[in-house]
Amino acid sequence: MCGIFGYIGPRTNGLELVVDGLKKLEYRGYDSWGVAADRGGELFVEKHVGKISGIDTKIFKNTSASLVIGHTRWATHGGVTDINAHPHFSGDKTVAVVQNGIIENYKEIRDELGREYFISQTDTEVIPQLIARYRKTMNFQEAVLAALRRLKGRYAIVAINVGTHQLIAARCGCPLIVGIGQDEHFVASDIPAFLEYTQEVMYLDDNEMVIIDGEASDERPLDQARGRRVTSSKRRETSRPSSGQARDEKEKFVTDHSSLHFLNIETSQPIQKRLVNIDWKAESAEKGEYDHYMLKEIMEQKATILRAIDQSDEDILKIAQTIRESRGCFFSGCGTAGKVCMAGEYFFSIIAQRHVNYAPASEFPVYHHFLRPESLLVVISQSGETADVLEAMEAAKKKKARVLSIVNVAGSTIARQSDTSLLINAGPEKAVASTKAATSQMTLLLLIAYAMTERLQEGRRLLAEVASKINDMLNPRFLVYIKEIAQLIREHNNLYIIGKAENYPMALESAIKIQEVSYIHAEGFAAGELKHGPIALVSHGTPCIAFVANDEVREDVLSNTMELKARGAYIIGVSPERHDVFDEWIHVPDVGVASPLVNIIPIQLLAYYLSVLRGLDPDMPRNLAKSVTVK
Ligand code: G6P
Repeated sequence: MCGIFGYIGPRTNGLELVVDGLKKLEYRGYDSWGVAADRGGELFVEKHVGKISGIDTKIFKNTSASLVIGHTRWATHGGVTDINAHPHFSGDKTVAVVQNGIIENYKEIRDELGREYFISQTDTEVIPQLIARYRKTMNFQEAVLAALRRLKGRYAIVAINVGTHQLIAARCGCPLIVGIGQDEHFVASDIPAFLEYTQEVMYLDDNEMVIIDGEASDERPLDQARGRRVTSSKRRETSRPSSGQARDEKEKFVTDHSSLHFLNIETSQPIQKRLVNIDWKAESAEKGEYDHYMLKEIMEQKATILRAIDQSDEDILKIAQTIRESRGCFFSGCGTAGKVCMAGEYFFSIIAQRHVNYAPASEFPVYHHFLRPESLLVVISQSGETADVLEAMEAAKKKKARVLSIVNVAGSTIARQSDTSLLINAGPEKAVASTKAATSQMTLLLLIAYAMTERLQEGRRLLAEVASKINDMLNPRFLVYIKEIAQLIREHNNLYIIGKAENYPMALESAIKIQEVSYIHAEGFAAGELKHGPIALVSHGTPCIAFVANDEVREDVLSNTMELKARGAYIIGVSPERHDVFDEWIHVPDVGVASPLVNIIPIQLLAYYLSVLRGLDPDMPRNLAKSVTVK
């Protein structure tokens, strides 16, 4: 969480450029925002509580700067205040830093430097203070290196020095990507921040830093045609075979780049980096005709399931074979992706009669006793950057187990650090609440489960049918009906959801969806567990959602639904058939074992409408962030 972005180059509208880029990183946190720039050797800083999306970039129109850093914050240490907003700077205002992550030993460093020098409550402020302290006897590069060697934790930073007009970025556990423009450079937590300027990137890996030298003044001639100042730089490239992980990226190996220097933080040794060409389209992440990204992304499920199954038979069969050969296969992810993993456990059991173990990624490292070189960890992550998932992968790698990932973001850390990676191809998911990514992830797990028993084509046919039925289901009348149900229950404070077998994880996922965007207390239960405690919470009029699929557990779930009804619950049934026990019936198509894919969609819509009707922002719910890069 937290988005960081830096620019160094000939453009003089660096502040506007960075603010614009930060808006594209807002999904990483939106408690506060801030920018810092070198303005003719003086540090300029502006930072405020609130969302950067509301800021008119033009406020910086007349403030020229060509070395700028910016930050959009998801608070960890220190409350949401202007002072705690990043960038943070040294007492002498020569060094400014933005950080994503957590500096675990910040208290110790703050005590050592003297608490009286600190003006914020953040962990980050120790970094510029430490750099400035080392700067007294070292150059900027040496000072940053010395400071980084003192820090403990997972983080990524970008630091600028106004005296030397330099930018240094370092990565130790949180993502950072360098965008290579013509005579200019960008450093960001994620590629969309600078995608409109360049598609050529270099990924920083853990324990690496990059030093980017700029021109010390803006007195260079202006290229009138491009509105930029003219500098020179050279680089030599040689072609290299693709890693095969991110199929839309072409790689070149960079042997020299005059103003970029990559170093290993521990050894100070120079590093050669690959230049990767990103073949993404910037426009596919816009809201278009929809009021919110969440609604747009729900509606996109008409197409995303088909895109998810657009994988070669060879890739899917190879993955199925890897799972088959493993001895001890674990599925792991966080939040919604975790619930998808849980659904996968049922898919593999029902379709392939294969036992896989689900563990939330934050719990996975404690399973290390069960890991061996023959084990396989399958991680699922939309962003490909979730810290808990990365830690689960580290635990697996320590035991030499293989790691397979299913991600949405090509080139993400999880994709790059796994042995094999599969893309779900859902396109950018911007709303914090995951919708289309979840159904695409489930689609792939279903497909792989079919491939495990030599029935890949049967799986493809089923999923193509699901895609077509979802297309029919998402019609205007359906949306109106779900909105009416939201209207009926919007004032309630509690809501319960039940499901059994492969729809039990959907009950849990429904609860997450409703909690995160509507702030209603929603809880999901295994249908049969209700009578063992939770039913005490149900009283007259309590809304309860029941997933009643046409499967072997249908009668059990209906009995549990009756038990709820007998206690006065208002029953919203999600089912291919109407049952007497339902007060409201949400009609979903009958798609057999793929029922979780169609069942979750009306609940995504219900959560969306509950949020809107309660006057909330479904795209950016309080306290949450889309990409969670801290533990
Ligand atoms: C955050 C998001 C969730 C998401 C989870 C896992 O908590 O708010 O929507 O499911 O992270 O994210 P990932 O990118 O790993 O799927």
